[in-house]
Amino acid sequence: MRVIVAAVGLCAGLLIGGAPAVAADAKGGEAKPPAKDLVLRGDAKCTSCHDEADAPEQLAIGKTKHGTRADQRTPSCTNCHGDSVKHEKEAGRGSGKGPAPDVAFGKKSKNTAEERNQQCLNCHQGGKRIHWQSGVHANRDVTCASCHKIHDGHDKVRGKDTQTEVCFTCHKEQRNQATRPSHHPVIEGKMTCSSCHDVHSDNPKMMVRGSTNDTCYTCHMEKRGPFVHSHQPVTEDCGICHNPHGTTAANLLKSRPPFLCQSCHDGSGHHGQSAALPANRAAIGTSTLGTVARGCLNCHTNIHGSNSTQDATAGTRFTR
Ligand code: HEC
Ligand code: HEC
Ligand code: HEC
Ligand code: HEC
Ligand code: HEC
Ligand code: HEC
Ligand code: HEC
Ligand code: HEC
Ligand code: HEC
Ligand code: HEC
Repeated sequence: MRVIVAAVGLCAGLLIGGAPAVAADAKGGEAKPPAKDLVLRGDAKCTSCHDEADAPEQLAIGKTKHGTRADQRTPSCTNCHGDSVKHEKEAGRGSGKGPAPDVAFGKKSKNTAEERNQQCLNCHQGGKRIHWQSGVHANRDVTCASCHKIHDGHDKVRGKDTQTEVCFTCHKEQRNQATRPSHHPVIEGKMTCSSCHDVHSDNPKMMVRGSTNDTCYTCHMEKRGPFVHSHQPVTEDCGICHNPHGTTAANLLKSRPPFLCQSCHDGSGHHGQSAALPANRAAIGTSTLGTVARGCLNCHTNIHGSNSTQDATAGTRFTR
């Protein structure tokens, strides 16, 4: 890193293609030509120190969308890190590190999560992030930079194969569930967490659509119906029976039938007897015995809803 003896900077945002900073090598005392922007518009006031020798990874930002200099909306260093005038003049001089930049995003940052996020929201409040501030992540002090890597060009959270790595650093329970025998093909890289979640939103459970069901229907349309006979818990919330992250029971079911079914349909009547042999089976008819030890789904095949009109009674029982 070169040490700057005198650096006179203007507002970086106004500069295109070079700052009039006069840099001189401290040891040689040799006059240097005015520092040039390296990767972002108006970055010279920063890259005079944070140059290739010092910070090759930081400069990789030039290869990201933020580095498209032809796009007038893209930021300079100062749009994210603040004007940082004191830092620019004094950092790295003397014994200490000198004043920090106005806004830093690393672990040592003294800025609140809100202050950091505001830098990004100055440009990105629109679109999906309109309701960012009332979402769960914002309220738990998760920052944009907790997920997005800005400098190095590898924004893992937006890659199909790499997104889960980022989410799992905080969401351990979902990591466990994702490897259970029945799971959506997320760890296989065919789907991502963001197939179902919009992590910038304030929707319930941050679903991409307003509700769990509307989100599931985007891929499982056939479960939407409308059905002539619908099963109440299905229309209410798919999550009543399924855990979409992963389960030990097949079909992402929270528990196996008949236990799943019997959590709502009590043990009296024919359905209660199918889990075990009834004690007085000699005294009861074969029609009842027909259900003994058989899965409810052997007969109730259309558990998400049925369209049978042939026989109204059977139809309502999801048996066809
Ligand atoms: C005079 C040289 C110099 C200039 C000019 C300079 N910096 Fe720095 N910067 C430093 C030094 C030295 C450090 C401390 C490095 C360390 O902590 O290892 C630093 C650290 C940083 C950090 C990391 C802070 C942290 O807490 O992790 C950021 C961000 C930063 N500078 C941004 C900028 C920006 C933006 C500009 C332009 C407005 C700029 N710097 C201009 C010398 C400079
Ligand atoms: C779009 C916003 C944005 C812009 C523009 C930006 N930075 Fe950063 N900077 C960040 C974030 C966020 C981090 C935290 C690490 C990360 O996400 O990569 C960071 C980290 C840093 C660090 C500390 C690196 C570390 O890990 O300790 C330095 C130094 C730095 N930036 C300098 C600069 C310089 C110099 C420029 C201009 C060439 C610049 N930044 C432009 C957002 C930005
Ligand atoms: C000065 C305005 C500005 C600031 C500040 C800014 N961005 Fe951006 N950002 C842009 C522009 C412009 C694009 C390119 C948009 C496009 O191509 O549609 C962009 C693109 C992005 C993208 C998509 C990149 C891609 O490859 O498609 C992400 C993610 C992003 N910004 C995150 C951030 C984060 C996080 C911060 C704060 C640390 C931030 N931005 C600060 C203007 C800004
Ligand atoms: C919990 C992780 C996470 C956090 C926190 C987060 N993002 Fe994102 N962001 C993502 C993911 C995943 C995508 C890609 C999928 C999508 O668009 O939902 C994305 C996409 C983006 C994009 C590009 C697509 C678009 O919507 O234009 C921008 C810009 C962006 N984020 C900005 C931000 C800003 C600004 C913040 C902070 C206010 C932020 N993000 C916070 C995970 C996150
Ligand atoms: C197939 C859709 C789907 C996918 C893919 C998905 N989720 Fe979810 N997630 C949901 C639903 C639905 C809920 C709400 C469950 C409920 O109401 O009990 C939820 C809830 C959550 C919750 C809140 C849990 C709670 O107890 O409140 C977290 C955290 C979460 N998901 C993280 C993730 C992560 C991380 C990934 C990627 C590894 C992911 N999800 C992938 C559908 C999905
Ligand atoms: C820096 C940590 C962190 C990262 C990274 C992170 N989250 Fe979160 N997330 C949280 C915290 C904290 C909560 C609050 C609830 C809790 O404690 O689980 C939360 C809550 C959620 C919820 C529940 C929302 C609700 O309404 O209850 C979902 C869904 C979620 N995160 C999805 C994701 C996904 C998907 C990713 C990756 C793209 C991700 N998160 C990355 C920290 C994080
Ligand atoms: C982005 C598309 C998508 C969304 C959204 C989605 N799924 Fe899936 N679902 C899939 C894919 C892909 C499979 C795997 C199909 C296969 O393996 O043949 C699947 C399989 C399933 C299975 C069968 C699992 C097994 O072990 O056979 C169930 C149950 C399921 N999804 C329920 C849900 C629920 C509930 C939701 C809403 C919370 C949901 N899905 C949202 C794409 C999606
Ligand atoms: C009352 C409990 C229950 C509810 C609520 C429920 N399901 Fe299911 N689901 C099941 C059962 C039981 C199976 C296994 C069916 C079988 O083996 O024939 C299943 C299987 C599935 C399958 C994989 C097999 C197939 O039929 O494609 C998908 C996908 C599915 N459900 C999606 C959904 C969606 C989407 C919702 C919400 C609209 C939902 N489920 C609500 C009980 C339920
Ligand atoms: C969360 C509670 C819940 C779960 C779990 C559940 N059901 Fe239901 N089921 C209901 C409700 C509520 C009704 C509507 C009852 C009514 O209309 O009297 C219903 C209706 C039915 C009916 C039609 C009853 C009629 O009179 O037409 C059948 C058959 C049925 N369920 C079978 C099952 C099976 C099989 C399972 C397991 C795969 C199951 N249910 C799981 C709550 C549940
Ligand atoms: C051998 C086929 C068969 C099996 C196995 C079966 N059912 Fe049924 N179920 C039927 C038929 C047929 C009807 C409609 C005629 C009737 O009411 O007896 C019915 C009716 C119902 C009803 C509505 C009437 C009532 O009694 O409330 C519910 C609820 C029900 N079954 C739940 C279940 C559950 C839960 C299981 C598993 C524990 C199960 N069934 C296993 C065939 C079966």
